[in-house]
Amino acid sequence: MTLTREQILEEMGLGPVWRLRQPAGASEAVAEVSPDAPAKADSAAPMPLAPRPRAQPAAGSVDAVDPTGADALGWPALREAILGCTACALCQGRKQAVPGVGDENADWLFIGEGPGAEEDARGEPFVGQAGKLLDAMLAAIDLRRGDNVYIANAVKCRPPGNRTPEAAEMAACRPWLKRQIALIRPKLIVLLGRAAMHAVLGEERSLGASRGKTFEYRDGELVVPVIVTYHPAYLLRNLPDKAKAWEDLCLARRVMRGQQAVGMDLPLSPA
Ligand code: URA
Repeated sequence: MTLTREQILEEMGLGPVWRLRQPAGASEAVAEVSPDAPAKADSAAPMPLAPRPRAQPAAGSVDAVDPTGADALGWPALREAILGCTACALCQGRKQAVPGVGDENADWLFIGEGPGAEEDARGEPFVGQAGKLLDAMLAAIDLRRGDNVYIANAVKCRPPGNRTPEAAEMAACRPWLKRQIALIRPKLIVLLGRAAMHAVLGEERSLGASRGKTFEYRDGELVVPVIVTYHPAYLLRNLPDKAKAWEDLCLARRVMRGQQAVGMDLPLSPA
């Protein structure tokens, strides 16, 4: 089913126009669950963003259970290595690892927390309720899963009971994510929720304190602007914060268009 833009914004709780449904501040009062715990839904100078040369995928395969060899892998070997990974205990409870999905040359990289039950069953990130909302969020800024968009997670295996992945689990999985970013070389990374923010930026502050800003992901000569926003599973339980997520998506679009420099804070959106 193809949704109109109005239907998409309505789905995000923002229809029929881009207005906050209630005065700023009101949403804080109704938030019931911390954005730091997004349990899956069952949880001045424009920045130059010229295309960069793609990383050269190395041929050959590297030990499938050794994430430290990830830096040498091209896409097929990386995928296989992730599927066979036993670097942390999360592998014991998974049906399958969930490497990621989408355009391997995407400008946009969205990173979530970790697979839930449906993702574990289907092998694709964000296919449950939270995924439907993520798709609506993408559509609201004229993006589509798989079309110039790649979706990945901080951890590739489902944490038991859909709990938030532990720091050690995210650290064990980090070489895979780092290699995915190096191969994709996105123009912008959007982090969905605090776990992703922690995994990618090492940022310990709350999501509320970090959104509305632009960060940088650095890996060698690769520098990618990063913004953070609420996890879709959190938004499903905290509808008023969808308006803030919409602001974040607008910021993402501005950064992608080079209209907002890294480090500048989000200006107040029109009422
Ligand atoms: N939540 C996530 O963070 N990732 C998924 O893939 C699904 C739900």
